[in-house]
Amino acid sequence: MLLSCMTTKTILVTGGAGYVGSHACKALAQAGFQPVVFDNLNTGHRELVKWGPLEIGDICDADAIRAVMAHYKPAAVMHFAALTVVSESVSHPARYFRTNVDGTAALLAVMRAHGVGKLIVSGTCAVYGLPADNPITETTAIAPINPYGESKLAMERLVAEAGKDGAVSSVVLRYFNAAGADPDGETGEWHEPETHLIPNVLRAAAGTGEPLKLYGEDYPTPDGTCIRDYIHVCDIADAHIAALTYLDTNPGGHIFNLGCGTGFSVRQVIDTARMVTGLPIPITIAPRRAGDSPILVANASKVKNALGWSPHATLLDQVRDAWKWEQSGKR
Ligand SMILES: NC(=O)c1ccc[n+]([C@@H]2O[C@H](COP(=O)([O-])OP(=O)(O)OC[C@H]3O[C@@H](n4cnc5c(N)ncnc54)[C@H](O)[C@@H]3O)[C@@H](O)[C@H]2O)c1
Repeated sequence: MLLSCMTTKTILVTGGAGYVGSHACKALAQAGFQPVVFDNLNTGHRELVKWGPLEIGDICDADAIRAVMAHYKPAAVMHFAALTVVSESVSHPARYFRTNVDGTAALLAVMRAHGVGKLIVSGTCAVYGLPADNPITETTAIAPINPYGESKLAMERLVAEAGKDGAVSSVVLRYFNAAGADPDGETGEWHEPETHLIPNVLRAAAGTGEPLKLYGEDYPTPDGTCIRDYIHVCDIADAHIAALTYLDTNPGGHIFNLGCGTGFSVRQVIDTARMVTGLPIPITIAPRRAGDSPILVANASKVKNALGWSPHATLLDQVRDAWKWEQSGKR
């Protein structure tokens, strides 16, 4: 017992009380690591921190990060803490730059001071904006179209700069659309307000949310609705574990798209939800939203080749697990 405690590597997980971060904590614990969550509970939830201690603090507060690092001496950091709602980033851009950019700068400064040299970061396909072509590779032009995407791009650039002298090696995983929930029902998606499609479709089905607003059915896609690349949150969590191992033998700075490489339209997601729930999905058709790209699908070859990772869950698995979570009443 003592030996296993002494050999367990501690990983600092910023934003570990949130949706993706809490699933990563479970994956870390299952892989034999000790996650320590650093989170201000802005959008996260104490109830989702189940696999290690929770330290409450703001990512912009370097002193608070320093105290946690000095105490736990983590071997690496997984950085999920961020503000993530695109529409809010348009109304409050400064807030987004402060948390997503200044917060990352504070984290990097403390990592360097404490000699913590490995970082896995949540990136986003929002850095590609409205790409001319799909599927999107890591060399597709970078052109974010809202403050959220801009702030996440600035965050990536800071991470790259911090790695130039070899002090901090990093993997940035640019997720496409995270979906689903822990199949055991221990954690799941819990955003208030919820802006993501799958939970909103399921709440419309259950009658616990508004009828689903379908934004635009005149896009140049086969059924006229937007196409996205949905990836199960547990597959995302597994990619973080693989990235951690990858940095052991591949120092430097790495950026990978993280998607399944297959696109599904809003209509296809609704049909899948109807099948899983057995319920009708009330829908209201709304005009297109500004800034919605018709299609966003990843070319995920680079991450598959480098990390030896590949996604396991289908869209059906994602909707089924999300439905189980919705019905559990845990959020
Ligand atoms: N969910 C997706 O589909 C998706 C897609 C692409 C990228 N991402 C990225 O993944 C990461 C996690 O997203 P999520 O969906 O789990 O969001 P989330 O809101 O569920 O989790 C974010 C966590 O960060 C914490 N946090 C926010 N501001 C903080 C601060 N100032 N100090 C400390 N903690 C703070 C929140 O309390 C929350 O626990 C984000 O970086 C996001 O940009 C998510």
